[in-house]
Amino acid sequence: MTAQANNRNLYALITGATSGIGYELARLFAQDGYNLILVARSDERLQKTADELKQFGVEVTIISRDLFKDNAAQEIYDEIKKMGVQVNILVNDAGQGQHGKLADIPLKRHLEIIHLNIVSLVSLTKLFLDDMITRNEGKILQLASVVSKTPVPEFSVYAASKAFVLSFSEALAKELEGTNVSLTVLLPGRTDTDFFYKADMQQTKEYQEHHLTDPAKVAKDGYEALMSGQNKIIPGIENKLMVGMMNTMPDNMTASQMQKNMQPSDKSERTESTHPASQSERETVEKERMGIKN
Ligand SMILES: NC(=O)c1ccc[n+]([C@@H]2O[C@H](COP(=O)([O-])OP(=O)(O)OC[C@H]3O[C@@H](n4cnc5c(N)ncnc54)[C@H](OP(=O)(O)O)[C@@H]3O)[C@@H](O)[C@H]2O)c1
Repeated sequence: MTAQANNRNLYALITGATSGIGYELARLFAQDGYNLILVARSDERLQKTADELKQFGVEVTIISRDLFKDNAAQEIYDEIKKMGVQVNILVNDAGQGQHGKLADIPLKRHLEIIHLNIVSLVSLTKLFLDDMITRNEGKILQLASVVSKTPVPEFSVYAASKAFVLSFSEALAKELEGTNVSLTVLLPGRTDTDFFYKADMQQTKEYQEHHLTDPAKVAKDGYEALMSGQNKIIPGIENKLMVGMMNTMPDNMTASQMQKNMQPSDKSERTESTHPASQSERETVEKERMGIKN
């Protein structure tokens, strides 16, 4: 039997599936015959992604929810329970950051990021993991970052939230040892998505002056690690070297280096991602910034 046929009755739930790494992960699951449940805020772009991925012959359900909001994770869980569907794989991909000194950014924005990157991720993990443990079957993929390993001045809340994701995920992976449920944490470095625009980071050296990895490559490394039950994956040699360096240098030194990258660049060539699915993400963000409902 082919892998596609084997996976026909399995469901993967992917948050952040309309852009960047999440979109590429959703494509990989669809190619392998998994049915999909896709979560993001924009109904329109979820629909567009679903129409595209249905061409792989899989069932695609969309759930439009804002994971900045309290209860969004519980609502997603309840909606899926009502559908009578069992989630075999959970991917917590949706995440955002915000560039700027803590003092210069409204508290509301910091709390939204903490809610999306931590509260919703922990809630979705707890809700779906309980069912996986009961069945003794399932897989979870969490999106951390190379900045999980270092403090980042002028990006402090984001980096701290990703440090949380890494610590939480590594602890859970240990708790799950000896079971048939596995948890993988993915630590991407700079990836060519719309992330930097949403984070108001486009003018920084971090965005303008460094190589950006193709989100398809990051997703492939994460997908393969997830499928083989590996607990942690750092995609690409450049990111592996960066994490290796962070592991040996004092936090104070890596924080100084990161702070330099957060300063304005003289260059301004990069204005948007070269990844098509990530380019259209910008429409959602523009509407959000203008206060128009998606
Ligand atoms: N790009 C990088 O350099 C990089 C590096 C390391 C780690 N990461 C991590 O990788 C993950 C994916 O990032 P990406 O670069 O692929 O991002 P992206 O291209 O900006 O895509 C983000 C996805 O999350 C959804 N999303 C954003 N806010 C949401 C909310 N409040 N509620 C529900 N869904 C929301 C977006 O759709 P809607 O806008 O329609 O909601 C979109 O589908 C994130 O966790 C990020 O922190 C990225």
